Amino acid sequence: MNIELMNNSSSQSKESLKVVLFTKETLTSDKNAKLYKKAGFKAAQDTNCFLYEKNILACGLEDMHNDNVRSTIATAIKTLKAANYKTANLNVQSSNTKAIIEGIILGGYEFNAYKSKPKKVKLKEIYLLCDDVKELKDSFEESIIIAEATCFTRDIVNTTPDDMNPPALAKLAKKLAKENKLECDILGNKELKKEKCEAMLAVGRASRHDTKLIHLAYKPANPKKIISLVGKGLTYDSGGLSLKPATSMVTMKMDKAGACAVLGIIKVVSELKLDIEVHAFVGAVENMLGGDAYKPDDVLKSRKGDTIEVRNTDAEGRLVLADVLDYAQDTVQSDYLFDFATLTGACMVALGQYTTGVMGHSNRLRHDISKASSKAGELTASLPFNKHLKKQLKSDIADICNISNKPYGGAITAGMFLDNFIKEENKDKWLHFDIAGSAYTESPWDVNVHGGTGAGVRFMSEFLKNIK
Ligand code: BES
Ligand code: ZN
Ligand code: ZN
Repeated sequence: MNIELMNNSSSQSKESLKVVLFTKETLTSDKNAKLYKKAGFKAAQDTNCFLYEKNILACGLEDMHNDNVRSTIATAIKTLKAANYKTANLNVQSSNTKAIIEGIILGGYEFNAYKSKPKKVKLKEIYLLCDDVKELKDSFEESIIIAEATCFTRDIVNTTPDDMNPPALAKLAKKLAKENKLECDILGNKELKKEKCEAMLAVGRASRHDTKLIHLAYKPANPKKIISLVGKGLTYDSGGLSLKPATSMVTMKMDKAGACAVLGIIKVVSELKLDIEVHAFVGAVENMLGGDAYKPDDVLKSRKGDTIEVRNTDAEGRLVLADVLDYAQDTVQSDYLFDFATLTGACMVALGQYTTGVMGHSNRLRHDISKASSKAGELTASLPFNKHLKKQLKSDIADICNISNKPYGGAITAGMFLDNFIKEENKDKWLHFDIAGSAYTESPWDVNVHGGTGAGVRFMSEFLKNIK
């Protein structure tokens, strides 16, 4: 599907179906109000109505807020596809171009890689009509880059664990590096042993695949700031010997969504040619079970040197991140350090499945992220650390335990476990994003369809775009 920005006056698009947005108020004053009434269309949010005689698809929304525009366009695009339209046109303004493009690209996304006979999509061309193409061109192109990178992230998340194992993820990262002129360094089992990444290696030990630490870098000439991104890349999380129940294991190919987000973000930054240096660090590991599996009762020595008592092999993401965060901090002195991870089911209990949990020490940074995510149309919420919860990670036999000794506050205790591996000088530069709920869905919501959502890509792109 191609999206084209055109002047209102251009005749090329005139014959195609017109997609029009209506609130309750604008509907009553429309010249076709009677026809809509007859059709039972009341402009409720995310509802559509064809007026075939006028060649119009009407889309309802509560008000003209971009969150509502994005969402109703996502519904409209599915209707257009189902009705086999080949083209459509739609008026845009500078204020809503981004929301409309995201509605079209993200709402129209399909993942058909495993369908032997995927349905052919007839919808080929969408014309966005505006008063001044020149004025909108930059934001049009930028929005397409961000939306397509979000789909790139979704594609990787949706790929099966057998196809997207740690070496395959490393290969994909290498390809991205080549296409987008990024530096690329990949550490395998041998190099990771040299680096003393024993916690990370323990998690991957029962897998038939090598564990990989992937480091991509985008380095413009005079960067304003340096940013390190770290992603949890569990290409499959069976739980290990602390095996997940059968129903919880389904969807655990999504446990690499943090890694996929980080790859999507560096793709955006390099394609927008932002004036910042960005490093993406990915811990690509498969958590399996077998004769060589790491065990509850093991004590692991992390790269940092702290020992970790393992009491649950399903709390593996934090073990991987402990080593990758430590490696990232030793490799690059950055101004910001962000990690993305599908870390805890507890985050979903706390915030629901639509919201990314944000943790860290800097109120200022959390505030800036909150602003960026509101603007980008992603939901985030802060989960506060406290010293009482920190005590729950104490171990009687090692420096720290990989699970909390109490059943509450699991998203925060996981975040505080990571905090243990953040160097003093980086405390205020770091934020942890728990995307366990927001990264994957089995039922559509907002611009998301079944599968990976690309959580993190849009709000982090918005934040990075505004760095001064
Ligand atoms: N990958 C899971 C977290 C997760 C759960 C992500 C559901 C998405 C959906 C993580 O590795 C995990 O298993 N965490 C455990 C931690 C517990 C053992 C302390 C959890 O959340 O149950
Ligand atoms: Zn787990
Ligand atoms: Zn996991």
